[in-house]
Amino acid sequence: MNNFYLESDLNEIISNLKEEVDLLAGKTILLTGGRGFLGRYFTTFFDKVNREYLKNSLKVVILDNLITAGEEGKTIPNYKNIYFKNHNVIEPIEINHSIDYIIHAAGIASPHYYRAYPLETLDVSITGTKNFLELARKKNSKFVFFSSSEIYGDPDPLKLPITEDYRGSVSCQGPRACYDESKRVGETLCYIYNNLYGLHTNTIRPFNVYGPGMQEKDYRVLPNFASLIKADKPLTVYGSGNQTRTFCYITDAITGFLKVILKGISGEPYNIGNPSPEISVLDLVERMKKVSDKKITYEVINYPNSYPADEPNRRVPNIHKAKKDLNYFPKVDLNKGLSRFLKWTDKTYIGEN
Ligand SMILES: NC(=O)c1ccc[n+]([C@@H]2O[C@H](COP(=O)([O-])OP(=O)(O)OC[C@H]3O[C@@H](n4cnc5c(N)ncnc54)[C@H](O)[C@@H]3O)[C@@H](O)[C@H]2O)c1
Repeated sequence: MNNFYLESDLNEIISNLKEEVDLLAGKTILLTGGRGFLGRYFTTFFDKVNREYLKNSLKVVILDNLITAGEEGKTIPNYKNIYFKNHNVIEPIEINHSIDYIIHAAGIASPHYYRAYPLETLDVSITGTKNFLELARKKNSKFVFFSSSEIYGDPDPLKLPITEDYRGSVSCQGPRACYDESKRVGETLCYIYNNLYGLHTNTIRPFNVYGPGMQEKDYRVLPNFASLIKADKPLTVYGSGNQTRTFCYITDAITGFLKVILKGISGEPYNIGNPSPEISVLDLVERMKKVSDKKITYEVINYPNSYPADEPNRRVPNIHKAKKDLNYFPKVDLNKGLSRFLKWTDKTYIGEN
């Protein structure tokens, strides 16, 4: 096992998935974006399940063109029955064996990067999704699309916490549109393939996942804070710091994702996240101060040019549907999750095993 993950976290996911993990036995999974933050976590989890749990191991094929995989994504560990191919998903691919599940997680997820690569961001969610829906159709695979909570845009406060039927308040112009709108089209493509061809599709809308394995140069809020803490620099809070979010620890997120993949009702989208607490970025800093051993200071600054304007003011999921259909109950409290995350960042960034 490599040092990017906490062994206890991987065990926690297995224990959360007692009812589901056997469903992976002997299956073949195609995972796009498999060298990004979530993809590497999935892969490490599948590797552990293959080595320690399943007699009939699963086979995983990972595709990634490494555009935003960072240094962490470039070195491929020696996984059991897991194979990597460098492939840009906007090109179709021929696969000569059966595939049970296609998980389309390739995407350009960090605002910093979708500002830098707007056309690539559109392509991976539109052309990429269509290519892999076609493959799913040929192979009769179940298809899961990683959409985003960003498809809701800046929601009407009266509609919070957001249920899956909220239609969104999204601009088709502006620096965030390439991400938000292409995820919406990706979902529409899943809807069409489900209705037109009866393909089993699900879309997952993750809400701010964090945890060990995040790339240092990802520039989303938590890795950004973690690398500033490591460098003994003040945390930089953009704008007023009053924008609120909820944060979902990685073990709860991977648990929810796998429940959707293995048991999601065909055609359905699912919010996966932790609905509480809803906190402002300034409150997040206060919590980090509490759980970190280091002395943390911060400064409030204007949004940098590299960060797309118009970020949503509030974002809170309603996860009733995932609770009801999938028995999904996130359980890692924010302070505990932050403490595990900070311990891990310390360990990794100073290069220990
Ligand atoms: N992490 C979160 O909190 C979160 C929240 C909402 C949505 N999502 C979605 O979940 C998915 C995974 O998120 P993540 O946090 O792991 O993102 P990430 O940026 O860490 O990883 C995405 C991976 O996709 C790869 N990729 C991008 N374009 C590609 C292409 N054309 N062909 C092949 N590979 C390509 C990148 O190289 C990267 O390794 C993304 O689609 C993202 O939009 C994540």
